[in-house]
Amino acid sequence: MDKLVIEGGVRLKGEVTVSGAKNAVLPILAATLLTDEHCVIKGVPNLRDTNTMLKILRSLGKNAELNKGKVNIAANKHTNHVADYKLVSTMRASFCVLGPLLAKLKKAKVSLPGGCVIGIRPVDLHIKGIKSLGATINIESGYVLAHAAQLKGSHIYLGGVYGSSVLATDNVMMAATLARGETVIESAACEPEVADLANFLIQMGAKIKGHGTPIIEIEGVKQLHGAEHTIIPDRIEAGTLMIAALITKGDILIKNVMFQHLGALIDKLEEAGVSISITDSAIRVCYKRRLRSINVTTLPYPGFPTDMQAQVMSLMAITRGISVITEKIYPDRFMHVAELNRMGAHIQREGPHAIVEGIKQLSAAPVMASDLRASACLVLAGLVAKGVTTVSRIYHLERGYENIEKKLQGLGAKIWREKE
Ligand code: UD1
Repeated sequence: MDKLVIEGGVRLKGEVTVSGAKNAVLPILAATLLTDEHCVIKGVPNLRDTNTMLKILRSLGKNAELNKGKVNIAANKHTNHVADYKLVSTMRASFCVLGPLLAKLKKAKVSLPGGCVIGIRPVDLHIKGIKSLGATINIESGYVLAHAAQLKGSHIYLGGVYGSSVLATDNVMMAATLARGETVIESAACEPEVADLANFLIQMGAKIKGHGTPIIEIEGVKQLHGAEHTIIPDRIEAGTLMIAALITKGDILIKNVMFQHLGALIDKLEEAGVSISITDSAIRVCYKRRLRSINVTTLPYPGFPTDMQAQVMSLMAITRGISVITEKIYPDRFMHVAELNRMGAHIQREGPHAIVEGIKQLSAAPVMASDLRASACLVLAGLVAKGVTTVSRIYHLERGYENIEKKLQGLGAKIWREKE
């Protein structure tokens, strides 16, 4: 296992290019199961999660390879409908092969993904949506067994206790593309990654309207064909790099960004006193003055993303004043609090809130990554802490950030990888 070693205190400066969005590419790869024809996906980040999804596609009979940011999925008739526990348990997004497998092969057997450190993460909304399309579903030995000779369009309310669900919307939307008649998904997730999946499905011949809004309408078609698609830029990587600029009092031009996807973060950073320059596909974040503390509440898109909660907490840890960070998507997503406190931060957790009392300087410490975004938060803290920080278990980071230490090195950071 590798760890990251970071010597804090360098102001990051220069240009960096954001990779394709992890949360868009995973369901889009799953969507290729809806056709036997050739598909090409471009702008694909080389991540642990991408490679897990490619392994799943191969285990299901697809011939899928990633080469220099491009995935080629050869034309072939895949017939395996069983997504194995070993693969699905390592990555929750793999559960979204359920919808495409069922729609294409009329049956699917997909392992339940299980919980993870950020919470229980149920799949009830996925099951509810797929059942509404007329499928019979049984849970046996940790697997979801679904079958339907012909899925039928339906009106589905998909909101849950914590609002809409990204992957449940993806799963149901994919299944509905081949259902007979019209499906309406109400309280659909509006995340840009859901809209990117819809755009890919439309290129495959699906009839979808309203993607990117809470009501998605899908008119089922008989079959889908091969398509070519370029993945949208990763808004969470862009946001993480924006925080890297601010936390190190640096000046970074972040390229390949869709600023329209970053509204809530930009708004909060402006409230903190940051001025951000935006051009067509780039954002420049330059630290000019002392920041103010801000209160942040995570919400489904277009609200503040839960996937940026940990990173903004590391910034608030060294910003004068008190910030209250409220987590409304995953109330237990606070594993990074204890690790930041090991670095001298003053953060107290109270239920779904973290109360952050900004201090002048963090101090380096050995810390441990617990999940993907918590890892990013610890790397950010390490960039500014006094001394040498080591972040263990960085395989979490590799799940979602392509070449992150190289990108940070390119901006001047003293960061390197060592064996544990
Ligand atoms: C996706 C993202 C993840 C992000 C999350 C929330 C991918 C691959 N992952 O995960 O990075 O943090 O959205 O923006 O896109 N829920 C239920 N029942 C369900 C499904 C979800 O109660 O059947 C709950 C979850 O526990 C959570 C909330 O709904 O509290 C939102 O989760 P959801 O949008 O489903 O997250 P994912 O799609 O798994």
